[in-house]
Amino acid sequence: MTEQQAPEGGKAWSGRFSEPVSDLVKRYTASVFFDRRMAAQDIRGSLAHAKMLAKQAIISADDLAAIQRGMEQIKGEIERGEFNWNLDDEDVHLNIEKRLTALVGDAGKRLHTGRSRNDQVATDIRLWLRDTLDTIDALLRAYIEALLNLAEKHAETPLPGFTHLQVAQPVTFGHHLLAYVEMMKRDRERVQDCRKRANRLPLGAAALAGTTFPIDREFVAKELGFDGVCENSLDAVSDRDFAIEFTSVASLIMVHISRFSEELILWMSPRVGFIDIADRFCTGSSIMPQKKNPDVPELARGKSGRVFGHLMGMLTLMKGQPLAYNKDNQEDKEPLFDTADTLIDTLRIFADMATGITVKPEAMAAALKQGYATATDLADYLVKKGLPFRDAHEAVALAVRAAEKKGCDLPDFTLAELQAFSSLIGEDVFAVLTVAGSLAARNHIGGTAPAQVKAAIARVRAQL
Ligand code: ARG
Repeated sequence: MTEQQAPEGGKAWSGRFSEPVSDLVKRYTASVFFDRRMAAQDIRGSLAHAKMLAKQAIISADDLAAIQRGMEQIKGEIERGEFNWNLDDEDVHLNIEKRLTALVGDAGKRLHTGRSRNDQVATDIRLWLRDTLDTIDALLRAYIEALLNLAEKHAETPLPGFTHLQVAQPVTFGHHLLAYVEMMKRDRERVQDCRKRANRLPLGAAALAGTTFPIDREFVAKELGFDGVCENSLDAVSDRDFAIEFTSVASLIMVHISRFSEELILWMSPRVGFIDIADRFCTGSSIMPQKKNPDVPELARGKSGRVFGHLMGMLTLMKGQPLAYNKDNQEDKEPLFDTADTLIDTLRIFADMATGITVKPEAMAAALKQGYATATDLADYLVKKGLPFRDAHEAVALAVRAAEKKGCDLPDFTLAELQAFSSLIGEDVFAVLTVAGSLAARNHIGGTAPAQVKAAIARVRAQL
């Protein structure tokens, strides 16, 4: 410190201030109670920065050794829950720096050479997000595996496929599940893609304009496992695109989880009764003793709204900010953390829940009998006998009307009854009107034939 000392107990930056901030302002501006979650990343970033400073002879080897020793101790204190987090020191960065200085003296004060909290915090979040994206990628993979296992068990189990929530055509339950697997495969691609843009080093931008010290940014990038450096110092400290991308990727994952949840809830409703979900994922009612409610899927459907909210929040946070860093940016952390926590818990629970789904094939088969699910198959049959598709469509529509009137399904008609709708119909029609025949006939890539479903499962497994 030079001739004029900062006021006793002041902040790291309070030298130019004539009065301390009020307690309310202190609380309002502090972030330590949520950003301390990035302590490990903050220490990792500081150690890489210090190593570079020493390599460039900006600090001495002794200073580096002292910083390393101090950080080792701080890391232990934090891990053991002994670290004294202090609101007066505002955020994770200043808390750690202050403790470092208390432990190793002037070397601690030299750590911040050529650096600002602006590039420091941007680095910390990117490191944190990178770890988080890797966790999410692994969880998506586990969730896909769980869905594949269930799909394999039910590669041949017929389920009414719906359009407009009305029975449309038979599909297999396995095929239906594979639709969600496709969504999750795309989600993994988006997670991995988001990681690429997040994985660049802001350090070296300092406050906004770069630094006068002869730093080596590439070295720091390499030390921290970044793919490269942020190429413009103003952008480096103010860019939060990666946070918006992450909440957007997370939102889309939650859309997929929410759609699946909606189906699980519907399927589990006693009115439908296609599946049961293991008790450990359900709860009862405090008043109605008979109830078993699908709380986990319902909550997941609800939590999707919370994640979309964070995406909106993040977009709004950024839209009015001039270059470069503004304190607004501190508001990025809680939505990011909450998005990650919500998503990680949800994916964990869904991978587990997929193993706790019991399928009731009789209920699915019964539902298939009620919606003329093989009507399209009959039309295709007539086309193969030479009738133009529009005429075939018309003939089958008349058959469905008659079946409705009689209160039966298409395969319940006698051959003579069917022939009233088209003389092209022969004895071989009954093989086409069965659910098994309908499924087996859709035998192309992407189709619901059990053989195709099994092949699709094998392809995804090979890609995993
Ligand atoms: N706690 C701050 C944040 O999260 C760190 C950066 C503060 N920089 C500043 N110039 N006040 O954004």
